[in-house]
Amino acid sequence: MKLSTSATIWSLLLITETLSYPTDLFSQSEPSISSKLASENSKGYVKFPAQKRQINELSSDQESTFGSSKSNIKLARCDGDDDPDGYAGTYMRHDDSMYTVNFTIGSQNQPITVQVDTGSADFWIVDTNNSWCAETSQGKGVYNLKPGDDAKSHNCSIYGTFQPGDSETWVSHPEIFQVTYATNSASGRWGQDTVTLENGVVIEKVDFGLSDKTNMRHGMLGLGYITNDLYDNLPIIMKKQGLIHKNTYSLYLNEDYTTNRAAMLLFGGIDHSKYAGDLGLFPIASNHTGLDVFLNGISFSDGSLVTTIASGSARVLFDTGNGYTSMPKDILQPILDRIGAKTQPNGTFTAECSSLDGLDLTFDFMGFDLTIPVSGFVVLRYGESCKLGFTSTGESNSFSFGDSFLKNVYFVADLDDDEIALGLLDADATCEEDLEAIVGHVPSATPAPSYSAVYHAPYSLTLASGL
Ligand SMILES: *[C@@H]1O[C@H](CO)[C@@H](O)[C@H](O)[C@H]1NC(C)=O
Ligand SMILES: *[C@@H]1O[C@H](CO)[C@@H](O)[C@H](O)[C@H]1NC(C)=O
Ligand SMILES: *[C@@H]1O[C@H](CO)[C@@H](O)[C@H](O)[C@H]1NC(C)=O
Ligand SMILES: *[C@@H]1O[C@H](CO)[C@@H](O)[C@H](O)[C@H]1NC(C)=O
Ligand SMILES: *[C@@H]1O[C@H](CO)[C@@H](O)[C@H](O)[C@H]1NC(C)=O
Repeated sequence: MKLSTSATIWSLLLITETLSYPTDLFSQSEPSISSKLASENSKGYVKFPAQKRQINELSSDQESTFGSSKSNIKLARCDGDDDPDGYAGTYMRHDDSMYTVNFTIGSQNQPITVQVDTGSADFWIVDTNNSWCAETSQGKGVYNLKPGDDAKSHNCSIYGTFQPGDSETWVSHPEIFQVTYATNSASGRWGQDTVTLENGVVIEKVDFGLSDKTNMRHGMLGLGYITNDLYDNLPIIMKKQGLIHKNTYSLYLNEDYTTNRAAMLLFGGIDHSKYAGDLGLFPIASNHTGLDVFLNGISFSDGSLVTTIASGSARVLFDTGNGYTSMPKDILQPILDRIGAKTQPNGTFTAECSSLDGLDLTFDFMGFDLTIPVSGFVVLRYGESCKLGFTSTGESNSFSFGDSFLKNVYFVADLDDDEIALGLLDADATCEEDLEAIVGHVPSATPAPSYSAVYHAPYSLTLASGL
């Protein structure tokens, strides 16, 4: 896959598994909502509990306890039919975070965990015969392996692999599967099989990549505009099969492990109980290459003084494949200065946790303001020291708002009408749901004041004078 557009430039700088944006057009046939939608799944949406795997509240000497029994992290989730009891231990990954979902594949229901990635489009899983899968214990540093490094180093049972020979419903496609991310890649073949979601929803004849050569420990559930000319991705297949009305989904990246709240990927619907205040509606800025909207300004508030940091019109990509909130160095630095953050030798930004109280960042998306407490960007705590989920994209004018931003908002993507809706997370949300299928435009979303504004390249934010 080509590394061609500007969206890839910053992605090369990030350690996260972020896909490049090839320029192929998204093509799709018009929806024909089958009778299945009315009969079998009259709600028109499909719930998909997501899980955040992360390290939290750990001292640095505990940081390397990935997968060990030392983990005392609980995962909050709402199980099945609103049963709030579903706590489960989570695996941890060294200095990184990602959102994963579980499902089973094939007639034998082989369990698979994949990363949810709005920054790429392909759905693929790891073949059991992947040459990187080791039967032996995972060693130190396996996360930094690159193609060409010592193979057979992954404990592939952590995320699961698929053995097509064991499935009676597996169909092998002739085409070669190939995907390249910032620092990783996967290749193999295309195929087709049944995917069963955790809540029992069965999606037949799902096309996906099956990789027998990948340095990644897990496959990806790409949710962006499709970029291969071969096969539809999961939401499009669900739409064509009448499980959902449109190629839409909502993300609720809950992080609060102390309450009964679940991170949720909701295909075809929206949960009105998870955001507070207005839901802003924005046109997707790019032409079917990424999930991005225009950002017109960033300001900082310490409770008494509001400082405009930058203004203009930049395209911000929303990418769950990026663990951080990434922006150009010249704009990030004055924000960090006001927060009182320190840059650690390894490039991470930290601050005293208690010093973050009362500090806010306001993002002006086409005239719709989202104010997020700086504490909402914390991704790790080492005692009193908080790691802030910001990264710099260097000199380039690139903005990618990943998990550390998205965990503060309710996010709805509508790839049929090329719109994104964003609202502030409801801090008091519970397992109670208020679900609605998305049939037309995102329900209850209000077009941003400058929804119809036309901006011209170069897209950028300019630092406010005096900063
Ligand atoms: C996915 O499966 C793994 C392994 O069984 C489990 O630990 C994890 O909690 C599951 N995740 C979700 C979101 O159910
Ligand atoms: C995995 O199995 C497939 C199907 O038998 C085969 O084509 C492929 O070469 C195998 N890959 C490896 C790495 O052994
Ligand atoms: C591989 O991971 C699985 C699931 O986490 C675990 O049960 C197993 O002990 C691991 N195997 C080795 C050899 O570490
Ligand atoms: C989007 O891209 C396609 C193909 O590159 C082009 O034909 C079309 O005019 C573009 N649309 C807009 C609105 O730029
Ligand atoms: C970066 O430095 C901080 C502060 O010294 C440390 O806590 C953290 O573990 C380091 N992270 C990495 C990835 O080395």
